[in-house]
Formats: sequence, structure tokens, C-alpha cells
Amino acid sequence: MKDIALDYSKALTSIQPKELEKIAEQVKAAHETLTNKTGAGSDFLGWVDLPKTYDKEEFARIKVAAEKIRKTAEVLIVIGVGGSYLGAKAAVEMLSNSFYNLQGEGERKAPQILFAGTSTSSVYLSDLYNLVKDKEICLNVVSKSGTTLEPAIAFRVFKELMEQKYGKAGAKERIFVTTDKERGALKKLSDEEGYETFVVADDIGGRYSVLSAVGLLPIAVSGADLDEIMRGAIDGFHAYADAELSNNICYQYAAVRNLLYQKGKTIEIMANYEPKLHFFAQWWKQLYGESEGKNHKGIFPVLADYSTELHSVGQYIQDGLRNLFETVLHVENVDEDVIIKEDADNIDGLNFLAGKSLSYINERAFQGATLAHHDGGVPSIIINIPKLNEYYFGKLVYFFEKACGISGYLLGVNPFDQPGVEAYKKNMYALLGKPGYESEKEKLKARF
Ligand code: PA5
Repeated sequence: MKDIALDYSKALTSIQPKELEKIAEQVKAAHETLTNKTGAGSDFLGWVDLPKTYDKEEFARIKVAAEKIRKTAEVLIVIGVGGSYLGAKAAVEMLSNSFYNLQGEGERKAPQILFAGTSTSSVYLSDLYNLVKDKEICLNVVSKSGTTLEPAIAFRVFKELMEQKYGKAGAKERIFVTTDKERGALKKLSDEEGYETFVVADDIGGRYSVLSAVGLLPIAVSGADLDEIMRGAIDGFHAYADAELSNNICYQYAAVRNLLYQKGKTIEIMANYEPKLHFFAQWWKQLYGESEGKNHKGIFPVLADYSTELHSVGQYIQDGLRNLFETVLHVENVDEDVIIKEDADNIDGLNFLAGKSLSYINERAFQGATLAHHDGGVPSIIINIPKLNEYYFGKLVYFFEKACGISGYLLGVNPFDQPGVEAYKKNMYALLGKPGYESEKEKLKARF
């Protein structure tokens, strides 16, 4: 069977074989630290064994709840921010039709899946509200803490709408909550109101939680096969467990990107040639940005959808500041293809492509851009993905999570906390007049 494969040959102009040998020892040490749970953030390693140890009873309940939502709702609104929504969004986008939410119900055979609580924008929230208010709705509110401002506000708004439309008893049948097992405002409210709840485990941080109920409930509603996702994840668990760098492509990715960073390549572009991977790269961006950007260190993660971005930031990538490297998600096989036809007039001069498929052209764009970037001083790491399906989604998620843990330890940071995220929140709460933040408020007001 074909498998996910890593090709870092186009990064080797920047890395010496000796450096790879040297980092192999550090990788082994990082592997031991992660496996033996002896490093920073070791309380948050529940995701490592999750493909083996996940709660089978809850997994079955997720499928039942998803079926209920599929039968009763025209729209599922998933309320959550950061790690509480990006994994689900990544999966729905990768595994469904490119125009999933625009397809007719007959074609889609599942509710539309829309997201709320991802920003503080009133325009977005009111547009969404007006779009769905007369439709049959279910909600899945996802928040580990239960107190994050953006989803909490969105939930207030939609809970009120649900109770107006369906009454308290009816709303209760349509609201599904994914939160802490015991603690937090959302857990308390769910117990009071009788909402069905799913668990964000204590030892799994938001950005590592997609293979738990956090991601799996919305993903199941879209019609994706959860068993296949978990089969991919467990295969990833076994495939990426070898401490030897030469045997483990997941660790090779972590090692190569760290070596590139040491050479001044401080920005990693996650590139794709399939728009369906846009949100997978967004998920990756949070995973790596929040895990590694600490103590004034870390690779800055950005994403680029090609060939679109080759017509916008392509110039910079080719010829701007040489602090970039590229990781390309390269999909080997696609389900649909378009064949270029002969045109009698040939005004655009494209008859030389007649009979060729668009995927053939996409492949040449990938090869051409990768070589041009390489020649321009942008090393590439290529991740070959046989095709976009549930199995490879599960395996890729595990690949990037494990690589992130190893990479963070190689960098010398705790890859499982996010203390920096609190700074803006403290200021925002003070400026909003939240009780307990009074002393800060005046100082901040004077500065703005
Ligand atoms: O990865 C993380 O920890 C964060 O992105 C959180 O998921 C995000 O801040 C949302 O937090 P919560 O689930 O507590 O609402």
C-alpha cells in the first residue's frame, strides 16, 4: 500500500550530513523525554496514546449524536475557537466536496456545517445569525475551559435563538457540548440544562485534540468515516514510534526543520496545491505556532495555497529575504480530473496541452515552483500524501502532532503550554471592565 512519504532532498543544500547525524542523538533524547513523560508539559501528553486508548463508549455515542444531528438539522453550528474548531474545520474541508455548504441537501446528505465563536466580529456573528435563524439548527459548543470569550458570546446568542425556536426542552435535544469532564462554566450549565456532553480530556491541550470528541463530532456529522480516521491514527502511532531518525519520517521532519531554523530559516511556509488543504494548514499553523513560539524563539508558521499564492507572494518567496523554507503537502492522486480539449482557434495558444489533464498540469506547477524556489535559496521539505481521505487525515494529524512534540523539545521549549496567549486577554478584560482587573484598566486606557 502507498504511504505518506517525506522527501527532504531539496533541503540538503542547506544541511550537511554531519548535522543530521548529530541531531539524530538529540532526537533520540527528545523521543525518550516524550515517551517517558519526563519533559516540560508532560501533563499534556494524552494525545500520544489516544489512537489506542480513546474512550470507545464515547466514540460510539459520538456516532449516535452525529446521526441524530444529521436527521434533525439543516445546519450544524460549531462554536469554538483555536484548537476547539480548527481540526474539525480542517477535516470537513479536506474530506468533503469543495463546495460542501453550497451543495443542495440531496447531494450533500448532511447538514451545512458553519462555525461561530472564532472571532470578536459582530458582522460575522450577525450575518451568520440572519442566515440560519429560520433553518433547523443544532449546536455543538466546544470549549475546554468553558470561559473563552469568543465562543462564550456566540453560545449566548445561539442558545437564546434555540430556546426561542424550540423552547428549553426542544433546545436541550439540539445542543451538544464538548468540554471538561468535571469543571468549568460550560460543564455546570450542561448539567443544569441536561445537554449531552462529550469530554476534552485533562491531559490533551486544545491544539492536540482533533482526534477526540472536539473534532470527531462535527467530522462525523459531515459524513466522514471516523473508524478510518482512527485507523490512520493508530497506524501513525506505530509508524512514528521508532527513536532512530533514519527509520522515522515524522522525526526527520522535526529534525530537518530545526536544522533549517539553525541556518536562519525562521519562517516555514506550509504550501499546498489543493485548496481542500487550506484549513489543514491553518490547523498546522496553530499547532506549531502555539507550541514553539516561546522564549523569543521558534519558526514562524505561515501557509500558502498554490498556485494561487504564486501570483501574489510568489515574487517574495522567489526573491525576497532568504529566511524562508517551504513544506509542501503534495497530493499524489485526485478523484476528479479535467481534460484539456483541443480548441479550433487556439487563440490562447494552449493546444499543446490538449488531451492533458489538469492534475498533470498541477503536478508540473508543483515541480516547477519547487525547483525555482530551491534555486532561489528556499529549501523544500515535501510530504507526499497518496490521496485525501479519512485514513490519511488521521495519519497526517498524528504525524504532525508527534513531530511537533519532538520539534518543540529539540528547540528547547515546552510544546504543550501557551502562556503568551494570556497577555492580550488580560488587557482586553481590563479594558472591558471585568471584575478583578480594575487596577490595570486606567493604566491601559491612558496608553491607547
Ligand atoms: O490550543 C489551545 O489550547 C487553544 O487554541 C484553545 O483551544 C483555545 O484557546 C480555546 O480554548 P477553550 O477550548 O478553552 O475555549
